[in-house]
Amino acid sequence: MNIMKAENYVEMSVQASEYISKKIESKPNITLGLATGSTPKGLYAKLIKNYLRHEISFQQVSTINLDEHIGINQTDPNSYHFYMKTQLFDHIDIRETQTHLPYGNAQDLAKECDRYDLLINRLGGIDLQILGIGHNGHIGFNEPGSSVNSRTQVVRLTESTRKANAKFFKSFDDVPTHAITMGIASILESKEILLLASGRLKAKVIERLVKGKLTKRFRHQP
Ligand code: GLP
Repeated sequence: MNIMKAENYVEMSVQASEYISKKIESKPNITLGLATGSTPKGLYAKLIKNYLRHEISFQQVSTINLDEHIGINQTDPNSYHFYMKTQLFDHIDIRETQTHLPYGNAQDLAKECDRYDLLINRLGGIDLQILGIGHNGHIGFNEPGSSVNSRTQVVRLTESTRKANAKFFKSFDDVPTHAITMGIASILESKEILLLASGRLKAKVIERLVKGKLTKRFRHQP
């Protein structure tokens, strides 16, 4: 594990964007795992800048997102489909058919989970997964205690996660209670993971992540 420190949020975003841009340069058909939330917004803005400066192209890049809320439409400004379009995809030369997110409004969610896992396999796995982390340590929408062997699944969000995400919604009651998320096993199988965290509140979570004891549940069986 390498820890890269940055002075502030902007510097973190620049460092991350430079890192990812180099990866795209060395493997133009890279599969990137993407995250949402406030944390990667600065990174996406910097990647757009690099693209506009003709430093990188996303023409051959494939992306696969971590998660989506259940019960809201793709066109809803609070959907992660909408987030990815407005924060990144609409501003770069990526092919829409090569961008992937789970559908939280699928009729058959169990089938949607299977489809997503097959898709990850079809893409040959994830080369570089970008992650944020929730205040309670959740990854994607896998809440603490999720099995390390989990695949794409429907999860009930804890009250603390819903409260943390309420900032994006009109009111707490509007925050969905469930989400569909890539599983921990698929995330851990990524060839490389870049986890971004910024600010005092996240420092505590990162300290636990780095220094905390592994629990007995942590037995990943690839
Ligand atoms: C949501 C996303 C996570 C993200 C987390 C942190 O719950 N599902 O993938 O890591 O928010 O968000 P923020 O970066 O806004 O703190």
